[in-house]
Amino acid sequence: MYDRKSNLALRRRGLWSTLLVGILMSGMGVFGLSGCSQGVAAPSIELPPLPYSQNALEPYISQKTIEFHYGKHHLAYVDKTNDLIKGTNLALLPLEEIIKQTAGSPEKAAIFNNAAQVWNHNFYWQSMKPGGSKPEGDLLKKIQASFGSLENLKKQLQDAALAQFGSGWAWLVVDGDKLKVVKTGNAENPMVQGQTPLLAIDVWEHAYYLDYQNRRADYVKALIDNLLNWEFAAANLPKV
Ligand code: FE2
Repeated sequence: MYDRKSNLALRRRGLWSTLLVGILMSGMGVFGLSGCSQGVAAPSIELPPLPYSQNALEPYISQKTIEFHYGKHHLAYVDKTNDLIKGTNLALLPLEEIIKQTAGSPEKAAIFNNAAQVWNHNFYWQSMKPGGSKPEGDLLKKIQASFGSLENLKKQLQDAALAQFGSGWAWLVVDGDKLKVVKTGNAENPMVQGQTPLLAIDVWEHAYYLDYQNRRADYVKALIDNLLNWEFAAANLPKV
């Protein structure tokens, strides 16, 4: 079920394991590089396995789209991030911390853009599930309190996804004590603004062009109506 993506992850892990063993065998150790504060042997960032098979979102998102989107675009963000942080102190940090420490820094824009795109895509894949689901319990109450109804929330998500000019993202977030729909451009992430993401919709053209060409509205509607993972959204609610 997970052959292709598992192979990608395993290939990456295998490569780094080989490198790590080589370093250990050379007597240097992982962090024991005397006089070298930048000695980092293991990658900070990996491509996580998809939470479903690559054809599991059909007919709304095709296997072909997932093969390119996950196997090419997402992997490229992972590889580029690792290239950019290699040998720096950022390589010691978790992905979220790399994003927070590079946000708003023009000289670190390339690192931010690639690292944030890794995080955003990790989050995007989990924001969907084959067959979709329905919000319940505390999440449903919060949706009704913030939007009046689930239908109104869905409409706001659709509107935000369509209103985003060019590449970017539409998000359901927690902002203070309310849920909100926001949109961000390029790799920007609402986490940087102190908001807590619950769901993400990728509106970069690479997310839908093979299946929908220029019809972003059709892609977004299909995703919202059929694929959103509301259990994932509920799990992201801040614990009180
Ligand atoms: Fe994407």
